[in-house]
Amino acid sequence: MMKQTLSKLQKMKSLGQKITCITAYDASMAHWIAEAGIEVILVGDSLGMVVQGFNSTLPVSLDEMVYHTKMVQRGNNGAYCIADMPFMTDCNVDTALTSAARLMKEAGANMVKLEGGERALSIIGALSSLGIPVCSHLGLLPQSVEKKGYKVVGRDHVSAERLLKEAFAVEQAGADMLVLECVPATLAQSISEQLTIPVIGIGAGANTDGQVLVVTDVLGTTVGKLPKFSKNYLQACSGSVQQALVLYVEEVRGQNFPSSEHLVD
Ligand code: KIV
Repeated sequence: MMKQTLSKLQKMKSLGQKITCITAYDASMAHWIAEAGIEVILVGDSLGMVVQGFNSTLPVSLDEMVYHTKMVQRGNNGAYCIADMPFMTDCNVDTALTSAARLMKEAGANMVKLEGGERALSIIGALSSLGIPVCSHLGLLPQSVEKKGYKVVGRDHVSAERLLKEAFAVEQAGADMLVLECVPATLAQSISEQLTIPVIGIGAGANTDGQVLVVTDVLGTTVGKLPKFSKNYLQACSGSVQQALVLYVEEVRGQNFPSSEHLVD
């Protein structure tokens, strides 16, 4: 695959081409994801749940994120790689700078992702001013599950307004990309249209600039029930892993995924 860059992803948004993203945690999966033409690999801290067997992302350490990002980057052939900043490794500017430096220098990530809007603005600004590309993550925040639970965000007028304001604020602070998780489709569409940075949705309807899914959901190896917004593509194509990944790309590009059955609002 041709090497993906932030400017290419930005251009895809301006041309109205959908960006595909999927999580990976190791070299072989990263290889097949890039081979399928998926533009972005997210080394998500979801690895705490789908690889390590915890019931949340909270226990994941920075060392573990560095370890998995290094593996992914060894297998990755051209996809743009985002690494998550795990719980409490971005709790203030100094800590976040140290954590991001490890993910970029040691592990080879192209961008770091961090959860939260208002509380993260100074951190996004500091990272961005040092040339570190930042993906903000708004909506359902898995690292805040103990306080807020796993809930759709932005269903009522007040929370929708707050989310829109936060989306503008993270872009203004220097974020280069935004992940929206479990947000009503019309709100996610409106945010995607108003922001200049690419907005990637998960459980946020079909009208964001791109989609991200967790790889174990896509390949049907997630233990337990699949989230409503997700889709088992291995089952859908009843073929190989490679065909499942290609079908995901085709459906996102053709705007056939997500469909009404995947809406959370
Ligand atoms: O950790 C992760 O996999 C994520 C996605 C759910 C967006 O943050």
